Amino acid sequence: MRLLIHHNSGSGSRWTARYIADAINRKAASTSAPFVLGLPTGSTPVETYKELIRLNREGYVSFANVVTFNMDEYVGLPEEHPQSYHTFMWENLFSHIDIKPENVNILNGNADDLEKECENYEKRIESAGGIDLFLGGVGEDGHIAFNEPFSSMSSRTRVKTLTEDTVLVNSRFFDGDISLVPRLALTVGVATILSAKEVVILAFGPKKARAVQQGVEGPYSHSWTITGLQTHRHGILVTDEEAAGELKVNTYRYFKSIEKDALEE
Ligand code: GLP
Repeated sequence: MRLLIHHNSGSGSRWTARYIADAINRKAASTSAPFVLGLPTGSTPVETYKELIRLNREGYVSFANVVTFNMDEYVGLPEEHPQSYHTFMWENLFSHIDIKPENVNILNGNADDLEKECENYEKRIESAGGIDLFLGGVGEDGHIAFNEPFSSMSSRTRVKTLTEDTVLVNSRFFDGDISLVPRLALTVGVATILSAKEVVILAFGPKKARAVQQGVEGPYSHSWTITGLQTHRHGILVTDEEAAGELKVNTYRYFKSIEKDALEE
């Protein structure tokens, strides 16, 4: 995998937005097929989204031929709820760029048949041609999307029960009241993410340092689903200095030296 240790989340987010925009532009130059982009929610990608909005406004990249698939959604929260991932995505990205609303795909956590919804989501991804680039964040316990510890590394889109830890961490978005946090979510699986042609995972801040350490140096294990990235041919982990804080000195130096051209001075 590539590991890019940026000075801070600002430089990491700028790099990531530019990387995504360049990938979209490269595909647009060679085919009329849409670029298929997998997207996360959470606080981590917000700066990257701001930067993508800026690049879109400046005319550097267009989303007119981009199809998106979000990673996950809570079960049972109305779409218009302020903490639904639908609301998050429209507020933080989609309303500000030239994407066509019909090209946005987000799991429906209020579907009558949740299993069918998950099955259809996989089919929709397939008929869009597969995901070109999946952007993701990581939980403090190393989960990607809502693939909590001990999720199958071969998992596909499905219903998941959230761990107590995740409910607690996410309660900050629900006025700190854990009773308001949904206990179930629909989420793409580890294998859904790893089936993308490229995967870029963001991790910023000291709370993500253990997940980064396990993801890079730890053994491949369902205990830390982020370690699945180790098996991907084009996996990239983008961190800041704080999130890299638990890596061995030699690991840190190695990635800093081989990636020096990609990192800002
Ligand atoms: C949630 C989301 C994940 C996200 C994680 C970290 O559990 N399902 O996709 O990566 O939170 O969120 P944050 O970026 O806010 O730290």
